[in-house]
Amino acid sequence: MTNIDASSSGAFKIGGDIEINRLGFGAMRVTGAGVWGEPEDRAEALRTLKRLPELGVNFIDTSDAYGPETSENLLTEALHPFKNMLIATKGGLVRGGPGVWTPLGRPEYLRQAVLMSLRRLKVETIDLWQLHRIDTKTPRDEQFAVIRDMQKEGLIRHVGLSEVSIDEIEAAQKFFSVATVQNRYNLVDRVHEDVLDYCEKHNIGFMPWFPLAAGDLTKPGTVLDALAKKTGATPSQIALAWVLKRSPVMLPIPGTGKVKHLEENTAAAGIVLSDADFKALDAAGLKESRAA
Ligand SMILES: NC(=O)c1ccc[n+]([C@@H]2O[C@H](COP(=O)([O-])OP(=O)(O)OC[C@H]3O[C@@H](n4cnc5c(N)ncnc54)[C@H](OP(=O)(O)O)[C@@H]3O)[C@@H](O)[C@H]2O)c1
Repeated sequence: MTNIDASSSGAFKIGGDIEINRLGFGAMRVTGAGVWGEPEDRAEALRTLKRLPELGVNFIDTSDAYGPETSENLLTEALHPFKNMLIATKGGLVRGGPGVWTPLGRPEYLRQAVLMSLRRLKVETIDLWQLHRIDTKTPRDEQFAVIRDMQKEGLIRHVGLSEVSIDEIEAAQKFFSVATVQNRYNLVDRVHEDVLDYCEKHNIGFMPWFPLAAGDLTKPGTVLDALAKKTGATPSQIALAWVLKRSPVMLPIPGTGKVKHLEENTAAAGIVLSDADFKALDAAGLKESRAA
């Protein structure tokens, strides 16, 4: 494929100072089954990561928990020293095996998580570090306080949160400026519509995860199916184009371990939906989200 360029999705400044192309990449899928261990096809995963800068993708989401460690290590192997790229990682979840994720927000653990990510990524500062989950077993202010301290020490440049409500964002803002929020969101999963609107109002980057999903709208006869057939794009590409048009603070991070899928997903940056098509998809997606 040629002429695929993530910059067609437009730019956004993380924390008001690091400019990235809005269509990013999620590096959770360059791991084994259950997001555990090495990917089945390691060479293809590395080829996928190396293709990112060639396609203009300069915003990559990962986590210490992906593998664990595998995703960060592969990113370093493929792309260090990350020239003109922003690597956003996370911490705050421990892994008990494939598919098992447990929040752990003890301050001493969060500090270790940041220090270990710095070591694996071979950087002096993490440009965007996200609290993967707020741990309900630890006072949230203790979690926010240690993040504020690490930011002051220069270990972290900008801070993000994941799977949070407006109340939690506002509680965190008392400790540090929230640069991004990463919540599950896509055309047919609109539970966090209020959080997205809040982020837009306050210029906080919103990273929707699972952005390719289109649920039953991929079935023959739906508005999405008709639009895909009319434009020659895949339903996932249309779903991604819809997400991008939904808000200027939207920073989707579709994930894959395959070059072909990466190229297909990044090509969605160049798909411009008309206002009428956007509205028709919006209504169909909301209906499906409410029915779920
Ligand atoms: N904050 C959180 O709690 C949280 C949770 C989950 C994920 N995330 C982040 O969000 C990112 C995206 O989430 P996600 O991976 O769940 O959802 P996604 O990007 O919407 O979907 C990824 C899935 O779709 C497949 N896929 C990707 N491109 C495709 C294509 N063009 N054609 C067919 N299949 C395709 C992938 O498999 P192949 O590898 O076979 O392409 C994978 O199974 C993750 O990488 C991670 O960075 C964050």
